[in-house]
Amino acid sequence: RILILDFGSQVTQLIARRLRESGVYCEIWPFNAAPEARIREFAPKGIILSGGPASVNEGESPRPPAEVFEMGLPLMGICYGQQAMAHHLGGLVEGSDHKEFGRAFVDVTGECAITKGIWAPGAREQVWMSHGDRITKLPPGFRVVASSEGAPFAVIADDARRFYGTMFHPEVVHTPHGAQLLQNFAQGVCGCRGDWTMGAYRAEAVARIRAQVGNGRVICGLSGGVDSSVAAVLIHEAIGDQLTCIYVDHGLMRANESAQVVATFRDRFNIKLVHRDASDLFLGQLSGVTDPEVKRKTIGRLFIEVFEEEQNKVGGADFLAQGTLYPDVIESISATGGPSVTIKSHHNVGGLPAGMRMKLVEPLRDLFKDEVRALGRELGMPEEIVGRHPFPGPGLAIRIPGEVTREKADILRKVDSIFLEEIRAAGLYDAIWQAFAVLLPVRTVGVMGDGRTYDSACALRAVTSTDGMTADVYPFDMSFLTRVSNRIVNEVRGVNRVTYDITSKPPGTIEWE
Ligand code: XMP
Repeated sequence: RILILDFGSQVTQLIARRLRESGVYCEIWPFNAAPEARIREFAPKGIILSGGPASVNEGESPRPPAEVFEMGLPLMGICYGQQAMAHHLGGLVEGSDHKEFGRAFVDVTGECAITKGIWAPGAREQVWMSHGDRITKLPPGFRVVASSEGAPFAVIADDARRFYGTMFHPEVVHTPHGAQLLQNFAQGVCGCRGDWTMGAYRAEAVARIRAQVGNGRVICGLSGGVDSSVAAVLIHEAIGDQLTCIYVDHGLMRANESAQVVATFRDRFNIKLVHRDASDLFLGQLSGVTDPEVKRKTIGRLFIEVFEEEQNKVGGADFLAQGTLYPDVIESISATGGPSVTIKSHHNVGGLPAGMRMKLVEPLRDLFKDEVRALGRELGMPEEIVGRHPFPGPGLAIRIPGEVTREKADILRKVDSIFLEEIRAAGLYDAIWQAFAVLLPVRTVGVMGDGRTYDSACALRAVTSTDGMTADVYPFDMSFLTRVSNRIVNEVRGVNRVTYDITSKPPGTIEWE
């Protein structure tokens, strides 16, 4: 395994992605939360120092702990990490007029363990740079392996100590051979075997859950989404009936979703599942509510109330399971803040009721989203669950601008399921991050047969995204959209007009509320 010390670069997570893709397990820790004892306990075979926005010449800038240079472990510094390494070992780093951002080319002048077999001496290779400062004098023991106009020391190596540095970012796809350079470091230099697989992870995770929980009882709030579903099945594999899942059904789920949750977890996986239909309560309390944030707060509050009620009915538990993922964990740790770890409070309804007395079981906290999906498949979970688009905790409530009623929710479910059915039939589901319909609080005039109609308009939304932070509109063929529109207007009573939302994020958001 490899340890990545984070100095706050926007792309640090990609280092972990690339290593894991090559079968090497790794973790990202904030640079200032890595005391030697903790590193020794983690027992990495090598350490990578990430990039970061600071300059080593600023007094306050983050520094790697001095011990990492003394532990006899291979080191690789990337961008700021390279500069911090050079600075610490007696080199010189200076600001430069020749800043490089984006695509650049390096001339390979030598060879070292990380370029071996990938970059031949004499070649000119594309890399992705993002730096203001650069090294101007090498620390003792180092030599140059590649250089660019802006960065004479684009790749440096000290083979004796097994210290390497790159001025560019090998972890981004714009450095075409970057993943191989990282693999050379992890496997060639550090001796990692590259045999980390989901099967191995599953066995380790099961053992960890058993060790943590012992004979205790675990409660898991199931939402039907990928993360809580995979967490539940994994925990069930570890501790069987010590796990109880609670599915609070607020009546604002998609068509058939509740039935599918029950069928999957209770019938197929034999998990103890409490299905509480609380739709009357939720819809009752939402009556007259039009403000989106009040909707969210109302749903959030009721969710916790109902969850606690059901939890008390089953006699409580010692642990609460959560589907926290690695990006949530990393985001919650400030690279420049103290070493304490606070999980960000998600705007996720169905999240942890603050102040709950139970300890947390978070078996997915080491995994990225696509790894969670892979783990779900490894556990034999159906594709409709592991491949599912994200769905917001407040459900259809935030897709019905204005007041939410059962009648409107029923109409929206029909529209939504026609849209998704056509997307699936066209083979587009996996190419889209999220697709859904919004029922508009607008009635428009239409004509059907010989009659005039005066019904609701709806909007369809489909976006591509990698993390939901930004999004692009999915460019459907017009023929696809007109087919969906025809079906909706013909099949769903109460809707006579269909529009397609072509707003990207930013400036729009993905959801309408
Ligand atoms: P926005 O609308 O902010 O959405 O662009 C980004 C992602 O977050 C989801 N979303 C929510 N998820 N509770 C949730 O659990 C919420 O209140 C909520 N609001 C938005 C949205 O579906 C998208 O994936």
